[in-house]
Amino acid sequence: MKVISSIQELRDQLRGQNRIAYVPTMGSLHEGHLSLMRTARLHGDPVVVSIFVNRLQFGPNEDFDNYPRTLAADIEKLQKENVYVLFAPGEKDLYPQPQEYRVRPPDDLGGILEGASRPGFFEGVCTVVMKLFCCVNPRVAVFGKKDYQQLMVIRRLAQQFALATDIVAAETVRQDDGLALSSRNAYLSAAERAEAPRLYAVLKEVQHQLQNGERDFARIEQRAVAALAAAGWQPDYIAIRRQADLRAPDPASHSTSHPTSDPAEPLVVVAAAKLGATRLIDNLEI
Ligand code: PAF
Repeated sequence: MKVISSIQELRDQLRGQNRIAYVPTMGSLHEGHLSLMRTARLHGDPVVVSIFVNRLQFGPNEDFDNYPRTLAADIEKLQKENVYVLFAPGEKDLYPQPQEYRVRPPDDLGGILEGASRPGFFEGVCTVVMKLFCCVNPRVAVFGKKDYQQLMVIRRLAQQFALATDIVAAETVRQDDGLALSSRNAYLSAAERAEAPRLYAVLKEVQHQLQNGERDFARIEQRAVAALAAAGWQPDYIAIRRQADLRAPDPASHSTSHPTSDPAEPLVVVAAAKLGATRLIDNLEI
C-alpha cells in the first residue's frame, strides 16, 4: 500500500485507473470502516482510502482538537485490507489556501436533524467530499449508513452535480450488545460504555411500536426521548422520517389501512443524544 499526502503525487499514482472504489474516512479506523473497504472491493478496483480530519465540518465548540488520530495503527489495519493507496493529506496539502469556495447542501436536507444541531457541518462535509472526489476521481464511493443523513446529503450532491461517482451505502456494524461502531465510542467511560447500547435498544422499541401498527409518530418519538432522558442521557432528537428524503412522513399514507412497511414510503428512525460529554448518533430502517 502506498501512503501519499500530496494531491499531485496521488494523481500521478492513480492515472489511468477508471474503476477506483473509494472510501473517505477521518481515520481512527475500526471494524465498521474496514467493512466499508470490503464493500468497496465488491464494487471496483483498486480500493483507495483517505484519512483526513476535516476542520471545516467541526463547529467551534466541537472535538476537532481531541478527535482521535491513530495514523500508524490505521496504516497497519489498511495493509491487511488490500488497499492500493492511502491518501493521508495534511491540512496544507488539502487546503493550501483558506477554502473560500464551499458546497452548501439545501436547507431542507442539510439544515435539519444533524444540520440543525451542528450548523455548517454538512457544508464542511460536502466541501471536503467534493474536493476529495476531484483528487481521487472514483468510479464508486462507499459511505456507511451509520451516518444516515450524511449518506443522503452525499447522494443528492452526486446527483445534483452529475458526478461520475456512484454512491454505495454500507450497513452499520454493531457490537454484540447493539452499540454501533464509531470512532467517538473511544470517548466513553466504562460506565458510559455499559449504558451506550440503550440508544439502539430505544430505536428497536420504536421499530417495534411502528410494526405493531402505532401511527402517532409524535407520541412514539416523545416516549423514546423520555426513555433516554430517564436513563441520564441528554437526547437531541429521535425522529421518524421517510428514508427517501428524511422529511416527516405523511400521516395519510401511514393510516392503519396502510402498513408502515408500504414500500411507497419506507421509514427510518434517526437519533442523536449525549451520554456524558459524548454525542452519539444511530438510526434504524423500518
Ligand atoms: O464520515 C466521515 O468520516 C466524514 O464525514 C467524511 C465523509 C470522511 C468527510 O470528512
